[in-house]
Formats: sequence, structure tokens, C-alpha cells
Amino acid sequence: MKTLVVKYLPSGEYSKSKKLLDLFLEETKNQNIAVLDLLKTQVPLFDENSIQAYYKRNYGGQTLDKNEAKLLEKNDQLIAQLKSADLLVMAYPMHNFGIPAPVKAYLDAVIFKGETFDSDKKMMAGKKVLTLFTSAGIYAEDKFDFNYPNWNSIALNTKAIFSYMGFDESEIIGTSLLDETKKEERLKVMKEKIEQVVKKWYN
Ligand SMILES: Cc1cc2nc3c(=O)[nH]c(=O)nc-3n(C[C@H](O)[C@H](O)[C@H](O)COP(=O)(O)O)c2cc1C
Repeated sequence: MKTLVVKYLPSGEYSKSKKLLDLFLEETKNQNIAVLDLLKTQVPLFDENSIQAYYKRNYGGQTLDKNEAKLLEKNDQLIAQLKSADLLVMAYPMHNFGIPAPVKAYLDAVIFKGETFDSDKKMMAGKKVLTLFTSAGIYAEDKFDFNYPNWNSIALNTKAIFSYMGFDESEIIGTSLLDETKKEERLKVMKEKIEQVVKKWYN
């Protein structure tokens, strides 16, 4: 079983979100795990040329010439890496109530029609995804509306995205580690939740 960890941890060694990823990695020491670090990887953003190549190939079913194919080369590499994994683990902090821009850019770069989603097919069937995040606030986990604290668009967005792609399961584990008096207690809860997912998926 192959696991792909996609991480965006700009706080580096001081990262609170890294603590959740470390808990996961401690539980999965002998597993086959590849890591994509979004601080070290240039993720392509669509521009007026690459989006036309995407439409032409992935929606129009047409073959691209060499120059057009080159425009999607990095996307294709990232997509192949994602498709080669059985489990996807994403780790990052909440930024502005949602997925931070580099992580969203990664998702936009790999969610390709006919490759990782299709309207009537579950392209990612057989795969599972775990999202680990920390935030400053504490948010409702399964209620989303215009009233605080129901603003956790990470939970809403990942639920929608991964379900649309056809992942069998999408787990999301997040907390705030800001309050020093509650940190240890919350980390203990995180450890238990991560252990449960690892037990379910790797055994
Ligand atoms: C640019 C930026 C935006 C943030 N936006 C939010 C937010 O909308 N809601 C929230 O609860 N915390 C927000 N935070 C706080 C972080 O999510 C929180 O401190 C997190 O634990 C940091 O994780 P890290 O140490 O892994 O970077 C923001 C932090 C930054 C730097």
C-alpha cells in the first residue's frame, strides 16, 4: 500500500500542523510513504494557454502537439504521483477559514477531468484521504453557514472535492493548539483520532 503525504507547513519546525503530521508518521513508520512538500514544489497555475490545452485534451478528446503537451507536463507528473498512491494525507494550517492557497493550487493542478474526476465515474475509487489541519479558532466540524463558528471551509471544501473525485473515504482531523493550557489535552485527542484512522486503513 502506497501513501502520498502532501504538506504545506510554512512555519517549519514551529508548525503546529506538523505535530499532527508527526503523530501520523509515528503510527506509520514501516509504511511506504512518499512526501510532496509544497514549499519546495512549483505547482502550475492555469494561464490562457495551459487552460486551452486542458480543455482541448481532457474535454475535447484531442491530441496535443508537443508544445501544448509541455504546458500540462507538470500537472501530468503530479497527477501520476497522486494516482499511484492508495492513501493521500494532506497536512496544513487553516488560512482565512480555508485551505491555504498553495494547497488549493495543488488540488486545482491535479483535479483533471478524465484523470482524477469525471461527472459519472468515481475515478479515485479504492483510495482514501486524510486531511490534518490546525487553526487558531475552534470550528464546527459538520455545520457550515454564515454564522461564526460555522466557517470551517476546509471541512466543507475537502468533503465536496474528495467525494466528487470518488475517494472511498475522506477523514478530516483538525484542532487548535494555540491555548497552551489545552494543547496537551487536545494533542492526546488528535493522537487517538489519528490512531483510529491508521488502524482502520493499514490493518
Ligand atoms: C495567513 C494566515 C491566516 C490565518 N487564518 C486563520 C483563520 O481564518 N482562522 C483561524 O482559526 N486561524 C487562522 N490562522 C491561524 C493558523 O491557522 C493557526 O495558528 C495554525 O495553528 C498555524 O499552523 P502552523 O503552525 O502549522 O502554521 C491563520 C494564520 C495565518 C498565518
